[in-house]
Amino acid sequence: MKNDLMRFSVAMPEELLMRFDQLVARRGLAKNRSEVVRDLVRDALIEEECGDPFAEVMGTLTIVYDHHSNDLQEKLHLIQHDFFANIISTLHVHVDAHICLEVIVMRGEADRVQDIANRILGTKGVQNGKLVLTTM
Ligand code: NI
Repeated sequence: MKNDLMRFSVAMPEELLMRFDQLVARRGLAKNRSEVVRDLVRDALIEEECGDPFAEVMGTLTIVYDHHSNDLQEKLHLIQHDFFANIISTLHVHVDAHICLEVIVMRGEADRVQDIANRILGTKGVQNGKLVLTTM
């Protein structure tokens, strides 16, 4: 059955197992070794799937920029309108008097989402950012 749990045993060096148990402990009481192994396997599979340029993915791009920087906000706005079909939502936070943080949520083929992220990250004035991809 698809959701039946199958048991298997894993051998690993004691040192690695100790570090793994510390990771399990950090994830809290709701997680045990099996749950964390399943999470790690799913993470690895998602990462591999997102490497396929045609995979349907969801992406969140987090960027930080100074809104006084030339016509940066206008440029970012134009890019987001150019790709309205892929950009689902944008969260804008005014961090302080100068700095803005945006989280741009996208969906589409992996290479399209990566391309949009590269255009945004490559816009002069964007200080830093990171794209995180996942599949459903
Ligand atoms: Ni702002």
